[in-house]
Amino acid sequence: MTKAQVVAQLLPSTYAPKETGASFAPTNIALCKYWGKRNTELNLPATSSLSIALPGKGAFTKVMLSTQAEDTVTLNGLSIATNTSFYRRLTQFIELFRKKVMWRLHIEIQMTIPVAAGLASSACGFAALTMALNDLFQWQLPLRDLSILARLGSGSAARSLWSGFVEWHQGEREDGMDCYAEPLSMQWPSLCVGILTISQKEKFLSSREAMLRTVKTSDLYRCWPDKVQRDLTQLKRAIHEGDFTTFGMTAESNALAMHATMLSSWPPICYALPETLAAMQQLWELRQQGIEVYFTQDAGPNLKFLFLEESKPLINKQFSNLDIIYPFKQRVG
Ligand code: DP6
Repeated sequence: MTKAQVVAQLLPSTYAPKETGASFAPTNIALCKYWGKRNTELNLPATSSLSIALPGKGAFTKVMLSTQAEDTVTLNGLSIATNTSFYRRLTQFIELFRKKVMWRLHIEIQMTIPVAAGLASSACGFAALTMALNDLFQWQLPLRDLSILARLGSGSAARSLWSGFVEWHQGEREDGMDCYAEPLSMQWPSLCVGILTISQKEKFLSSREAMLRTVKTSDLYRCWPDKVQRDLTQLKRAIHEGDFTTFGMTAESNALAMHATMLSSWPPICYALPETLAAMQQLWELRQQGIEVYFTQDAGPNLKFLFLEESKPLINKQFSNLDIIYPFKQRVG
């Protein structure tokens, strides 16, 4: 099964384009991680995962039909050269929807987060692009189908179409038609996510490459699917019951386990910098003092803290440069 075959199953046979399509997609932070694929071509994950959206942090994407000979892309107002991997990844995705009619697009992306620094810029990027295309061509697809399409660009993009908590189902089918995300109805108004930016440098190894290497070479990876299943159940129960201790503990333990599989890969993969470890130690000390704060970490050196509003003043005192977000109080776009 190819990506083009999946697209052909979902899209209407004719397109009725408007002049412009536009959308915003928030980035998402996984609390139970997606790490490893059962199908690399279709980005079908080895396990389900669970995330939280960060309102206001994401991608605003505008797409317009163009008369140029090739697609043109701007990122935060700057034109993207056609020989960059960013341009290639984007246009390979667009290619899936071109069919026989050779339209070209002008794409304008405004990102409110650093690109490729472990803040899921590809997740919100592909989600916003998929929704902007749906708007431009008036496909009128349900979000579930758009989640499947966004996944073809980047796995975690499947979760970036909603605000709040989102679960991405691993599915079983070979064509991935049962592999989409959907929002959980539960809200947690006092929940805060704090972003601790340690470096904005582009990562040395993409999550795509890192995942492949982990699955191939890490002995510890064999334990990962069972761990995810347990963590996912535990996290959903904790969200349901408002049990912050279990929630934070499970998310932190899940992230550490994912990084342990990377450390046990060969060649080893370590996204943490000395400052990342120092921040973890500082956070653990706070916890010893009775302040409930936990962290999660993705494919980069930055940390995302999880805590409740009541702990905010004390945490802010220790980490003054924390960018604090209220996932359930702020507007999405
Ligand atoms: C560590 O979605 O970027 O952020 O599907 O290859 O594009 P591809 O990978 P990607 O991986 C995200 C990995 C992660 C964990 C997560 O978001 O669940």
